[in-house]
Amino acid sequence: MPETRVPRRRRFLVCEPRHFAVQYAINPWMQPDTRVDVDLAQEQWQSLIRAYRAHGHAVDTVEPVPGLPDMVFAANCAVSVDGRVFGSLFHAAERRPESTHYETWFKASGFDVYRPESVCEGEGDLVPAGRYVLAGTGFRTTREAHREVQEFFGVPVISLTLVDPYFYHLDTALFVLDENNIAYYPEAFSPGSREVLRRLYPDAVLATREDAMAFGLNSVSDGLHVFIAPGATALADQLALRGYVPVPVDLSELLKAGGGIKCCTQEIRS
Ligand code: ARG
Repeated sequence: MPETRVPRRRRFLVCEPRHFAVQYAINPWMQPDTRVDVDLAQEQWQSLIRAYRAHGHAVDTVEPVPGLPDMVFAANCAVSVDGRVFGSLFHAAERRPESTHYETWFKASGFDVYRPESVCEGEGDLVPAGRYVLAGTGFRTTREAHREVQEFFGVPVISLTLVDPYFYHLDTALFVLDENNIAYYPEAFSPGSREVLRRLYPDAVLATREDAMAFGLNSVSDGLHVFIAPGATALADQLALRGYVPVPVDLSELLKAGGGIKCCTQEIRS
């Protein structure tokens, strides 16, 4: 018998892909000057927002800025815990200006924003998970940033090393199901980090490479519903067996930039 799962209402911050484009390549999913269908990207993104609202979640929006084609990936702008916001410092020069625009939104909404000294890309690599913050490094966010995060929040930070360039952010290889459990793709991690995850989460849901390549680990869970890429079928089946309810949302156009559901979603925890 699967456990009874209880959803918790979330507050999300998102940014419409009005100026979405693939102009530069900073991860293996991106081919410079790929044609993108902005209307399709917008429709797909709207379907995600509708799905969140239909499941009772609050959604706030940041105004998109021309010339910042990756700004739709709101997860990268910050990470928040108990109403405190740790901002971002992007690895790629092309994305650095995004931080200021998000910071403006946070300030106008009553949050102070801590400006990190080291490269770190918000919830892309820094994933609050119950008693810990799980933190990725290897491609973008640095170990120094992990230390800054731990010092800022006073929450134990678990550093995990990513080794596969297709899974360049932690949120492409792992997501939080609820306070106590996660799903992840083990091969995206170094052997030591894999062992850490195995010890911390002996009952985790383990995904296949197919699930991971379909961006199935870039999911958002409210504790019951899991907003998930439709191609990650084996993972969705496993989640259903465990009592979660997969809600498929297709963001194929955004995948041309190496982003998916979680990348488009900043959770505001207050
Ligand atoms: N093109 C963006 C980049 O490479 C995609 C970011 C995806 N965001 C995420 N949270 N994984 O930075």
